[in-house]
Amino acid sequence: MSTPAEIYEELKGFLDFGEGDAARLKTLGPIFAQHGASITDDFYVVLGKNPETAKLIEGRVDALKATHARWMGELFTGDYGEGYFAGRMRIGMVHVKVGLSPYYVEATMTHIRNAAERIIHQNVADRAEATAGFTSLLKLLDLDLMVINLAYQEERLDLLTKVTGMKRGLLENLIRQGQKKK
Ligand code: HEM
Repeated sequence: MSTPAEIYEELKGFLDFGEGDAARLKTLGPIFAQHGASITDDFYVVLGKNPETAKLIEGRVDALKATHARWMGELFTGDYGEGYFAGRMRIGMVHVKVGLSPYYVEATMTHIRNAAERIIHQNVADRAEATAGFTSLLKLLDLDLMVINLAYQEERLDLLTKVTGMKRGLLENLIRQGQKKK
């Protein structure tokens, strides 16, 4: 089975995420440095309204806003190699460890996408340029989500190996065989 790092590289190819996207994202950096805080603020308002997510962020919203702002800044560095992957995988693991259901991460990305679209269209005058930049950002946000999902998948496989005492390779083989039988 491919490693998460190999899957990440494969997915970049699958999404056709390349140098053009990296360059466009870098161009958007200063806009998000200036206007991104509103996305972060709204993000934590949304999390604060839902009981299951609210209890996880209670008493630490300011600290979380700072990490979220750093996460956002990293979207626009133009470098999406191994270091970027490792950082995103670690962030995924943080959510796994805190006991957050993965569907909340998926669902809250909608708010980030919508707010990002608004910010780009308000600040990039050329319509074609704005659309191209937003398209590149959508690809990267999807990649981020895929990596977070990989972290959840890794944790489940690790848990199964611990609980059953079976080797990881054996478990992966069983999963493959089960999929073939469907
Ligand atoms: C697109 C979605 C999300 C992004 C990009 C995101 C981003 C981040 C980042 C960058 C960190 C800091 C990780 C670190 O460096 O230690 C973090 C931590 C955290 N996030 Fe999220 N997050 C997302 C969704 C959520 C949701 C839906 C919740 C629900 C409550 C949540 C709750 C937390 C908590 C509680 C921590 C701190 C965990 C700990 O240190 O114990 N996040 N998040």
